[in-house]
Amino acid sequence: MFNTSPRHPIPDLRGRAIYVDQIILHETLGKGAFGRVFRGEMVRPNNQHTQFAVKVLRKAQAGTRAGIAQATEQALHCNMGEHPNVSSLHFADADEEFTYLIMDYCPGGSLHEFIGSNKVTFVGNDEMVKRVFGQILDAVHHCHSNGVYHRDLKPDNILMSKDGAQAFVTDFGLSSSARSGWHAVGTLPYQAPECIYSTMLNAQYDHAPADVWALGVILCAIISNCRPWNFADDGDANFQRFRADPYSLMEHLPISVEACVLLSEVFELDPDSRVRLPELQARVQGMKTFFGGSGDLTYRRGLIHVELDKLGAAEMFASVEEPKWKQKLGGWFNRIGQ
Ligand SMILES: Nc1ncnc2c1ncn2[C@@H]1O[C@H](COP(=O)(O)OP(=O)(O)O)[C@@H](O)[C@H]1O
Ligand SMILES: [Mg+2]
Repeated sequence: MFNTSPRHPIPDLRGRAIYVDQIILHETLGKGAFGRVFRGEMVRPNNQHTQFAVKVLRKAQAGTRAGIAQATEQALHCNMGEHPNVSSLHFADADEEFTYLIMDYCPGGSLHEFIGSNKVTFVGNDEMVKRVFGQILDAVHHCHSNGVYHRDLKPDNILMSKDGAQAFVTDFGLSSSARSGWHAVGTLPYQAPECIYSTMLNAQYDHAPADVWALGVILCAIISNCRPWNFADDGDANFQRFRADPYSLMEHLPISVEACVLLSEVFELDPDSRVRLPELQARVQGMKTFFGGSGDLTYRRGLIHVELDKLGAAEMFASVEEPKWKQKLGGWFNRIGQ
């Protein structure tokens, strides 16, 4: 009865009545590693229909790791206070087998589906990137300010309004109220190196910079439909390339020099030196463009190769006052200057 393994997935519960028979479950909206989310409908006495999203989790035994995670998800999601870009958890219900988390329904689905849909694209749309990614940053800042660290930020855990104008951070299933932790949790491509390096498995790491790293991977996905690497470890060729030369990002992502500089500060290996959330918020809003200009890109063999306008780059870097950035430009800047 208490098996939470993915080998015991949540069945199709369409038609089931929950919450003292007030909410009926309809079609599946999505599935994750832990739960299955259904559209739920409440019919009020005046015949008004209210839509919810109902996340169904297989009930875990109290005191077990899964049981503690489920209780934490509810407690942190409920208690962090309202924010326009955090999906609201309204009620919870349970029966012998399942726990039901009753949340706001977001008809646009997840950011992951949104990026993959080809209906609306962020590519080339700076204003939309600033608005939507800005909302995600505001939401995560709100969580951190309330002592909640998400630990599984990724496009699947960000919901969208139908028109793509609003984003909502969701899925607090791996969140923590502790500032730091011992164990690597989350989803590999979004994990910061300090969460996955085997040599550091026994070291504690701060959750706030790890969330910032995940936000950097999300920004890459938004502006280019690509992730920069599969995992932030030297076993990954793209990550290895980035470690040798942070500006190699521009060779496989169609990003501007300015976006590349910012991303290299987000993907700072030392969590203590990584750009902090408030600075990231300000820098995103002040960004001239996230995208490589038309003269910067050449398309060859299906890969995007970036050729920088040497003069433009030199001018831009001459105007950068922060010495740390200039030092970081290192080999790459010398190379284009040759
Ligand atoms: N409030 C919601 N409105 C619409 N779709 C949702 C909502 N919540 C979740 N989903 C869909 O269900 C998927 C899984 O939900 P999530 O809470 O991330 O579960 P898990 O903990 O199993 O990962 C999401 O990626 C999304 O597609
Ligand atoms: Mg999820």
